[in-house]
Amino acid sequence: MTNPGILHPDMNLHLDRNENLYGPAPKCFEALRSIGLEELSVYSRDFTRGVKSRLSERLARELKIPEAQILLSEGSEDMLKQAVHCYLGPGEKMLCPSQSWWYYQKVAAEVAGETVTYALNEGRDAYSYDVDELIGLYRKESPRVVLIASPNNPTGNSFPDEDLKKLTEAFRESIVVLDEAYWGFADSLNEHIESLISRYRNLVVLRTFSKYYALAGARIAFAAVGTSLSRLTKFSARYLGYNRISETLALAALDSAEYYEAVSRQMRADRQSYYEMFARFKEYRCFASDANFILVKIPPDAKAPLQQFLQTKQILIKFFSEPEFLNCVRITLGTKEQNRRLQSALLEFLEARQAKEGLA
Ligand SMILES: Cc1ncc(COP(=O)(O)O)c(C=O)c1O
Repeated sequence: MTNPGILHPDMNLHLDRNENLYGPAPKCFEALRSIGLEELSVYSRDFTRGVKSRLSERLARELKIPEAQILLSEGSEDMLKQAVHCYLGPGEKMLCPSQSWWYYQKVAAEVAGETVTYALNEGRDAYSYDVDELIGLYRKESPRVVLIASPNNPTGNSFPDEDLKKLTEAFRESIVVLDEAYWGFADSLNEHIESLISRYRNLVVLRTFSKYYALAGARIAFAAVGTSLSRLTKFSARYLGYNRISETLALAALDSAEYYEAVSRQMRADRQSYYEMFARFKEYRCFASDANFILVKIPPDAKAPLQQFLQTKQILIKFFSEPEFLNCVRITLGTKEQNRRLQSALLEFLEARQAKEGLA
């Protein structure tokens, strides 16, 4: 697959934001060009048919759950906010990973909730969760809401299906939000929505069109929700419909399975080539990832020179200020060509340092 990829208007190669730089499938562009005036100037009439939209109907069919249990939102950030604002009261506890997307703690603070964090274990080649420890913490803290991120940002690890079942079983007394923003980049697809949602009535599974489907700018996502969550279902209902342009794009994306599978396959191959490249440099450690990014631990004294060096190449990767990741960088997987460009810059930097150290 040859694709030069999306380049930001500032002309830097942005491998720092976990966007999908292959861009959306060609069918999305065709759909955008053929959007009619009626879609732009009138409300959808889907509500009068007793459904939210054509998109929620389609998702319900594909995921084999009732349409009433599919909610739509402007990105999963929006649905996460709705769920937390709906269920977490002042002083109530939300359990979430300590090394994860900063927004989880921010959204709990918005409603004066208290966050209790659980740590991920840093292994030699991968981060992991300790499921039994997490269940122990849950029993001790009795949180109102539990946040599970799989794959987690920025560590890239996910919960195997068996663990997800065990956790949702143990967390029956709470609202469980499972954030699967980075679904679709793992070697196996983890198709568990139907079985989890039919079994756990307090579960919200968040999926977005931003990452796998490369539609971050369209701001569209969905949640599959258990049957006990009628408060959230009512809270999120929009009687005049949703953004019809974004819905049209999302439907075209769902029609383009082959395109996205090819993109994901290429990203998985490129992820592997990063693992192999970093394995040649013993001071650098790459953590196994199921997402469209990888986390790499680097020597502390390499941080500033690497940042400066990549600036000269007009390439941005993520350098952290959070204490847990001070010595780490997160690299978003771009297109094959973009990944080659970063890899050759990294090799130049790493080999030059190695040669200098060899001389010292
Ligand atoms: C873990 C995680 N969840 C959710 C989101 C939000 O995605 P969106 O609102 O575009 O669906 C992000 C954004 O980067 C993320 O990293």
